[in-house]
Amino acid sequence: MTRPLPAVIAAAQNASDRMADRHTPFVMNDWYVAAFAEEIKEELLGRTLLGRQLVFYRTSTGQVVALEDRCPHRSMPLSAGTLTQDTIVCGYHGLRFNAEGDCIEVPSQANCPKNVGIRSYRTHERGAVVWIWMGEAELADLSKLPPQDWMESGEWERSQGYLSLQGSYVRLHENLLDLTHLSFLHAKSFGTPDYAKAAFESVIGDGQFALLRNVVPTTLPPVWAIPTGLTGQGQAARIVRSEFRSLGLHEVSVTFYDCNLPENERPQFRIRTAHMPTPETATSTHYFIVHGRDFALGNPETTRFMHDQLFVAFQEDVDGLALQEQALASTPPEDLYEFSVVADAPAVAMRRYVLARQRQEAPD
Ligand code: FES
Ligand SMILES: [Fe+2]
Repeated sequence: MTRPLPAVIAAAQNASDRMADRHTPFVMNDWYVAAFAEEIKEELLGRTLLGRQLVFYRTSTGQVVALEDRCPHRSMPLSAGTLTQDTIVCGYHGLRFNAEGDCIEVPSQANCPKNVGIRSYRTHERGAVVWIWMGEAELADLSKLPPQDWMESGEWERSQGYLSLQGSYVRLHENLLDLTHLSFLHAKSFGTPDYAKAAFESVIGDGQFALLRNVVPTTLPPVWAIPTGLTGQGQAARIVRSEFRSLGLHEVSVTFYDCNLPENERPQFRIRTAHMPTPETATSTHYFIVHGRDFALGNPETTRFMHDQLFVAFQEDVDGLALQEQALASTPPEDLYEFSVVADAPAVAMRRYVLARQRQEAPD
C-alpha cells in the first residue's frame, strides 16, 4: 500500500533546495586541511580534494608545494612521475615543472612552449596540519582560518589520526552538531544513556553554529573516567560545546569535574577535539582529527589509551555515516524525505549557511 505524503513531508522533499547536501557543489573559497604536516615529505603525494586531483611535496627548504596532478601534455598524473631538485618530471614524456607549476623543460626540444603550466595552490602549515585554499587565490586570507591555539600550545597533550569516510562532509558536520547520537551510535563506546535527554542550548550565528549540552550528574565512560579518576557512579559533570567553526573545522570542547565537590575546590579536566573534514568527492571525505587534553601531561600511556578508545568511537561515526550514504544513494529522489526535530536546529542552520555560501560563489 502506498502512503500519501502529508503536506509537511511533501514540503520537506524539497529540503535539498534549502539545505546543503551531497548534491551541493563544493564551497571552494575556504581553508580545508590538505594533509597532516608529517605526511608531506620530499616525495610526491597524490590526493583528491574537493573533487580535484592534486600532488603535494616538500621542497629541500621545507616548503609545502601543492599543484594540479595532471600533466598538461597528455594528462598523466604528475604524482606518478619523479621529484628531482624540487621539480617534478612527468613519468610519461619527461616534461619538467617547478614549484609554481611552470613548465621549465621539454626533453624533446630546446625550448618550452610559452605560458604552459599547471595550477598551483596556496597552502599554510600550522601545527600538525597543512591547510589549503583551492578557491579564488586573491580571496585567500589567513584571518578566515579559525584560531586553534591549543593545537600548538605546550599546555596541551595531543594525538592525531585520519579516517576515510565514505559519505558527504556535510553529513559529518551535521553529525557533530547534534551529539544526541552519543546515546545511540556510541552506546558501546563513549556515549551514556542520559546524554540524549540532557538539557541543551543552540547557538546560531553568522557562520558559527554550536550546541551546548550539560550532562550533570553523569557517569563517565572509561575513556574519560580512568584518566580523570572520576570513576564513581553519577560523580561527574560533562559540559560539552560542539561548534562548527568553518567548513574545514569543527571543534568539540568538553570540561569534566567532580560534581560532589564545591565549585571553588574542584579541579577541571578539559579536552578538545578538532574534527577537520575535507571533501574528497561528493560522497567521500578525508576526516582529519586532532585530540588534546590539558591534564595528565607527559603521560604517553594515557595518550595511547585515550587515542585508541576515541578512535573506536570515531570509527562508529564513519561506519554509521557510510550506511546513511548508502541509504541516501539507493532511495529514488521522489521518495526521499527527511524531517527535522528541535535538536537539529544548529545543523539545519549550518546546512542552510553552506548552501548559501555555495550559491554566493556560483549563482545559478
Ligand atoms: S604526459 Fe606528461 S610529459 Fe607527456
Ligand atoms: Fe559521533
